[in-house]
Amino acid sequence: MNEIRFREEIAPQTWRYLVHAPEIARRRHAGQFVVLRVYEKGERFPLTIVDSDTEAGTIELVFQVVGSSTRHLAAMQEGEEILDLAGPLGRPTEIEQFGRCVVIGGGYGIAPVIPIARALKDAGNELVGINGARTAEHVILLDRLREICERVEVCTDDGSLGHKGFVTEVLAEMIEGGERIDYVLAVGPTPMMRAIAELTRPHGIRTVVSLNPIMVDGTGMCGGCRVEVAGETKFACIDGPEFNAHEVDFEMLMKRQRMYRDMESDATRMYKPQSTPLNGGCGCHREGGQDGH
Ligand code: NAD
Ligand code: FES
Repeated sequence: MNEIRFREEIAPQTWRYLVHAPEIARRRHAGQFVVLRVYEKGERFPLTIVDSDTEAGTIELVFQVVGSSTRHLAAMQEGEEILDLAGPLGRPTEIEQFGRCVVIGGGYGIAPVIPIARALKDAGNELVGINGARTAEHVILLDRLREICERVEVCTDDGSLGHKGFVTEVLAEMIEGGERIDYVLAVGPTPMMRAIAELTRPHGIRTVVSLNPIMVDGTGMCGGCRVEVAGETKFACIDGPEFNAHEVDFEMLMKRQRMYRDMESDATRMYKPQSTPLNGGCGCHREGGQDGH
């Protein structure tokens, strides 16, 4: 079980894996994720299920190497088995016929956008995609987004592909240009999601973000993924990971995401391949939340 059937590096330090997990492949819905543990004493971390193939019994995962656990995962080879794979976890995305939807992915945050965009499209929505990354070589899954959306805007921080600038600038131009937008979905760095929430708020555009707090068990038991939404405490793993962007306390989320940064950089510095466990799996130094951040 949990055998890596295929792996490829799709951008610098960004990997696409197909993992044999037939039960999860059969049961998963858009917006859901798995929690992985790569070696005996390794930490648990979440990754969004990008797609699944029920015939082959595989799920598709995309992750960036950002810390010790994702580095361990990226060092694994086809034929090797991931020690633990729990899922599907989280609430499936609420899909309705919203009308004209803009789906936005910042960096490898585009990976969770793909299954949601497809589900929105299948429900009869018209889709515009915005895919932003640092440079052209960091733009991933563009063909997949183009297959789903009627129009895709690409932007890079350095202008090496598409517009030069952030995804927020593209969205602001669309809003200022009077384009009809009924719904926005945004996944990426927390400052990006916060900026998008502030852009759409004055226009009353329904906006959903997928939050990426620190997660440990993924089942509502540990409290690691606590977030504040509409003044209430929520657990991203069981109440989310998607929330109304206009109700999220992004300041608190960013403060909590910074809590373990020093310990994580120590773990990354001390990284040794595969066989050497780097932590006690206690969740006391975390790679971050969803998608191995
Ligand atoms: P990055 O820092 O290279 O940023 C990607 C793009 O996001 C930028 O090119 C820009 O267009 C936009 N952006 C970044 N900061 C912004 C800001 N302050 N205002 C407006 N737009 C901004 O991204 P990366 O290094 O590829 O990392 C991806 C991020 O996405 C990580 O922070 C990761 O945690 C997050 N992520 C979240 C989820 C989730 O489920 N929420 C899933 C995957 C990745
Ligand atoms: Fe433990 Fe959500 S990850 S409560």
